Amino acid sequence: MDIDTYYTDHWKHIEEERIARYERMFEWRDGQAALLAPAAIEAGHRVLDFGSGPGFMALAIADMVGESGRVHGVDINARFVADATERADGRAHVSFHHVTDGRIPLPDGAVDRVLCKNVLEYVPDVDATLAELRRVLAPGGRIHIMDSDWGFVVVEPWGKENVDRYFAAAAVAFREPHIGRKAQGLLAKQGFHDIEVRIQAFADTQGRSLPVIRNMRSYIGAALDAGGDTGLSGEQADALLAEAEGAVEEGRFLFSLPQFLVTGTKS
Ligand SMILES: C[S@@+](CC[C@H](N)C(=O)[O-])C[C@H]1O[C@@H](n2cnc3c(N)ncnc32)[C@H](O)[C@@H]1O
Repeated sequence: MDIDTYYTDHWKHIEEERIARYERMFEWRDGQAALLAPAAIEAGHRVLDFGSGPGFMALAIADMVGESGRVHGVDINARFVADATERADGRAHVSFHHVTDGRIPLPDGAVDRVLCKNVLEYVPDVDATLAELRRVLAPGGRIHIMDSDWGFVVVEPWGKENVDRYFAAAAVAFREPHIGRKAQGLLAKQGFHDIEVRIQAFADTQGRSLPVIRNMRSYIGAALDAGGDTGLSGEQADALLAEAEGAVEEGRFLFSLPQFLVTGTKS
């Protein structure tokens, strides 16, 4: 894999171990409904889920819009699209599409809502992607971005310096790790109006987010394999990971990664 384009390539080709981890990470839980609230999704809405991954959120949205609505999921990973299609189990109002060239297979103005959860930090050209998402939205339709900002991660008992080192070493996996704070400005640049920003933070003390930290370790491994200057050796990264795992057992673990919820309307 070319390390310069790893931020996007690592989604096109996913090894089996990571697929299993992502299925756990992206499973939709009822408690996450608050992430969708600003999108005001209603029965009958036509919705695009851009970067739908294994399809869990798109299927939850299919329940929200009902059979008078429609959900389209798109993703650059063919395996995710196939697995999501299987999970849809023949439901006629939800479909998943594999995209390869940045073009969404929908006509102009086809949907009432565009949802995009934890995707924009990976796209090669975020302005071009947002322009394409705006194209498929109907006038008056809303785009709703739910995304992290990797400058706001807390992992205890690591302390800030180790968090910064660990996530900086994994930075090859992101095109724009600070997408959360930038989303508002990017929507304004595309001409969206009535832009609202909310930030939602969760505290994980039980270790549910360890897969995120393990996932970052695989990105650090890719950077090390490519001979990059990560500022952290594999042994140091493993020691931090082991410390986090041990802290869960000892009741000393805390993980938080605030989600930026940024919503705008197309004229
Ligand atoms: C972190 S996962 C999030 C998956 C899902 N949205 C969720 O939150 O459960 C990022 C997803 O974006 C997809 N993705 C990355 N770059 C993409 C692109 N340029 N076009 C479409 N999908 C993309 C990946 O394949 C992956 O499924």
